[in-house]
Amino acid sequence: MISAVAHPNVALIKYWGKSHDALRIPATPSISIPLLALRTETRIEVAPTHDEITISGQPDTSGRIGRWLHCLRGDFELDIPPLAVRSHSNFPLAAGLASSASGFAALTLAINTLLDLDLDTASLSRLARLGSASAARSITTGFVSLDGQASTHDAWRARKALDWEDWPLGVCVAICSHASKAVSSADGMRLSRDTSPAYTAWLEGNRRMYARAARAVAERDFDALSAAARWSFFGMLTVMQTSDPPLRYLNASTFAVIQAIDALREQGVPVFFTCDAGPQVKCIHLPECAELVEARIQAVPGVQEVIRACP
Ligand code: PMV
Repeated sequence: MISAVAHPNVALIKYWGKSHDALRIPATPSISIPLLALRTETRIEVAPTHDEITISGQPDTSGRIGRWLHCLRGDFELDIPPLAVRSHSNFPLAAGLASSASGFAALTLAINTLLDLDLDTASLSRLARLGSASAARSITTGFVSLDGQASTHDAWRARKALDWEDWPLGVCVAICSHASKAVSSADGMRLSRDTSPAYTAWLEGNRRMYARAARAVAERDFDALSAAARWSFFGMLTVMQTSDPPLRYLNASTFAVIQAIDALREQGVPVFFTCDAGPQVKCIHLPECAELVEARIQAVPGVQEVIRACP
């Protein structure tokens, strides 16, 4: 039996939209940080006849992992035997906390060990990306970029931009609902690409922000990173809201937390926020203001739980 662990990640520069759906090639590069207190552990062993997949004790009814294994065995000619896969996460699934990222990353790492593939980070991230594009960034920890020069499978891989120990930021997550999302990221992205009049401007603007954020990470410039991340979040939100029909992943408590964090920022507290395809708010801050940020978001009406995700 092989076991592997991976952490979900939160994108500071988002990806929203694909240039190739089946190969899950993002239409825009992204940069993420890990949520180190959240983890998915996946255990695998060879099964007698066919894949048996359970997620948190329940059979995987979505069929997503089965389809991914089928693709690795077929299109990518990996000699993977039938597998018994058991995956457990210590955080709510399908609520915008990137459970698919840590799930596919842990499974990719486990398969790499089981089959003695000895793949490097770039190759592992390409395989994980075929399951969920953000999973490519969970193959390693630290500040991780996912980019590529061409719209091809080989070009798009994750790379560690900076070790986490070299700039360990604080991350607090405000859980604003435990409900699963109504529209999957994949469906939402397709809708945005096909219907939002803001989509092309989003791709161009987000590329510029990616370059700025990469520089900010290299220079450990919190204000510059915060400005680029805020643009990326609001750019993605604009595309979601101008899709037809509009995509609504956030709720009233999400906006109340956003206001609270903005008020802290205006008082000079080094903190900013980002959200994904779900109502949870990820607050990124310098480590010395962890208690202040946590207490402030805990006090927002409707916040159900606050998770200290880093350190
Ligand atoms: O990994 P996917 O394909 O489920 O999409 C994730 C999309 C966002 O979380 C909204 C943004 C991102 O870059 O992680």
